[in-house]
Amino acid sequence: MGNARLSHILNLDDFQQAAKRHLPRPIYEYVAGAVEDNRSSMANTESFQRYAFVPRVLRNVSGRSGTRRLFGHDYAWPFGFAPMGISALSAYRGDIVLAKAAGHLNLPMIMSGSSLIRLEEAVKVNPDAWFQAYLPGDEANIRALIARVLAAGFRTLVITVDTPVAANRENNVRAGFSTPLRPSVRLAWDGISHPRWLIATFLRTLVKHGIPHFENNYAHRGAPIISSSVERDFSDRGHLDWSHLQLIRDLWPGTLVVKGILHPDDARRAVETGANALIVSNHGGRQLDGSVAPLRVLPSIIAACPGVPVMLDGGIRRGSDVLKALALGAAFVFVGRPFNFAASVAGEEGVLHAARLLSQEISRNMGMLGVCSLDEVDRAVLMREGEEFL
Ligand code: GLV
Repeated sequence: MGNARLSHILNLDDFQQAAKRHLPRPIYEYVAGAVEDNRSSMANTESFQRYAFVPRVLRNVSGRSGTRRLFGHDYAWPFGFAPMGISALSAYRGDIVLAKAAGHLNLPMIMSGSSLIRLEEAVKVNPDAWFQAYLPGDEANIRALIARVLAAGFRTLVITVDTPVAANRENNVRAGFSTPLRPSVRLAWDGISHPRWLIATFLRTLVKHGIPHFENNYAHRGAPIISSSVERDFSDRGHLDWSHLQLIRDLWPGTLVVKGILHPDDARRAVETGANALIVSNHGGRQLDGSVAPLRVLPSIIAACPGVPVMLDGGIRRGSDVLKALALGAAFVFVGRPFNFAASVAGEEGVLHAARLLSQEISRNMGMLGVCSLDEVDRAVLMREGEEFL
């Protein structure tokens, strides 16, 4: 996709429409879908509509800046790329594309542990990238993975804690998506009927890099992404508890972020265990259907953890969403699916375009709110549904 076609993409949702045409259905559904009845995924989007802006006028907003400081780093904008599994199946070298784009834009990028490219390669193209791990099920594997992430040069580790059991992804079953993908006539047709993806992403990957494998769930290589016989090793995490997070804290000398917190008591406990920051998240609505939207619990979690950066992901599609989360106290936000779609349809150029659209929305809206810096974006710019001025 050249610039001419990108010029028709005016917002993040437009990338989703383009990706729907570009990707084979099972892969599109894996990224776009959520779990059971998609209630949490919808709630995430809707949560932002519970608040309205109260703009201020005639304030000279000509010198606006969207920078935000986090972990001693001044990022260009207050958003980053959320971790997304198997990105290299939807976009050619997806994790590398996202890591490079984030480096060029001076935004944080979180590499998913469920990825198909070795974590060492991503940190090489972007030394500021963060790594997201799921907790392996046993202490030896936890130790080995943490040692590997550290040796690779990552400085920020994100531990996702909302996956004690596998989610009920009915949409994947209906769309024919599984990991590993099972070769079938239907799967072959899904590929052949999307020739640009088949050639420029899938076959190019096979020819240049071989069959993709899960590379980063453990210190060792995992299952291939396509196989008629291999069972993916869904390591059992049901028995994990706070002592495992404590173990990681003891092993990891860098910045430790805990992702997937929705209750203030868990937030407090994570901080007591040594977390340096939190990401309030319901995993993009992909785990427990009916779990609360992160935006709704954000203020109580911030109140429970004074002085700790509390970030948020889930449902952000517009600059106005970013600003509402910041107004409610989020230190930073992460956006997932839209950047995956952007990488799928147009590689790094697509990701740069998507980030530019979102940052322009933030800047434009800051102007209309009457603020020049993100520090001025606080609760006073918002009214909640049902709230009235006295
Ligand atoms: C992976 O984390 C997923 O939600 O599919």
